[in-house]
Amino acid sequence: MKVVKTIKEVRENVNTWKKEGQTVGFVPTMGYLHEGHGSLIKKAREENDKVVVSIFVNPMQFGPTEDLESYPRDLEKDSKFCESLGADLIFNPEPEEMYKDGFSSYVDMSVLTEELCGLSRPVHFRGVCTVVSKLFNIVNPDRAYFGQKDAQQLAIIKHMVQDLNFDIEVIGCPIVREEDGLAKSSRNTYLSAEERKAALILSRTVKLGREMLEAGETDADKIVEAMKKNIETEPLARIDYVKAVDGLTMQQIKKVQKPMLVAMAVYIGKTRLIDNTIWD
Ligand code: PAJ
Repeated sequence: MKVVKTIKEVRENVNTWKKEGQTVGFVPTMGYLHEGHGSLIKKAREENDKVVVSIFVNPMQFGPTEDLESYPRDLEKDSKFCESLGADLIFNPEPEEMYKDGFSSYVDMSVLTEELCGLSRPVHFRGVCTVVSKLFNIVNPDRAYFGQKDAQQLAIIKHMVQDLNFDIEVIGCPIVREEDGLAKSSRNTYLSAEERKAALILSRTVKLGREMLEAGETDADKIVEAMKKNIETEPLARIDYVKAVDGLTMQQIKKVQKPMLVAMAVYIGKTRLIDNTIWD
């Protein structure tokens, strides 16, 4: 497995593979990898001849008061992890390699980005769409893998690929959880022992919503209200949002439908965590 820092080196490697008729799977990440990322790399390994993983903490998708500086990084550990899963190439650029002086082209999306995380993180999805478009152009993969943990991001990328005619198949992969239910996240490392316990309120509340759906509840507001009440029982938790939205457009809905996404963002102390369930 190679670790490269330049766009040129990625292109040289991928061009060689493509000339040999090999397919390329791509897993974009911001590093500090865990089993959630691992599940994407494994799936890419199963479905493609070659696997590229990008590790880039993308400054453009962080707001001015967010955790860009403190975002955890460990390239050495990440490289070992990728190698153990059979990845062929890691692309780990410096910000200057991705954003040259005078950078001024952006990929922005309406509608889908205006709900959920888009409300509390106004520049976030423009940064995600821009960097993922750039990475798609650099890596030129046949398939790209994204987690349902970031369900809105997955829906946005699928839509972007359709809107902008990227010839790439986008594949969504299920949420990987800790044994006690907490969705795996690089940001879980921010939690103190007490907060780590409190963070279980997210997965427990997702479970509650899911159980109401399975029991046949048809009123989406009732589900959301019950979920909010449940989160409020945890003193360390502060709700950013809990919403039921259309699974494709991300617009709020009142009646249960398929596909539907029930999603939440909750602060545990200073750490903002997300979780969701897809009903389809
Ligand atoms: P990052 O948060 O590192 O996540 C990279 C990919 O791993 C995303 O597709 C995310 O949904 C997936 N992932 C993270 N935790 C997961 C879990 N517990 N189960 C399943 N999948 C999980 O998402 C980003 O980086 C960035 O926004 C990026 C797309 C790389 C653009 O910068």
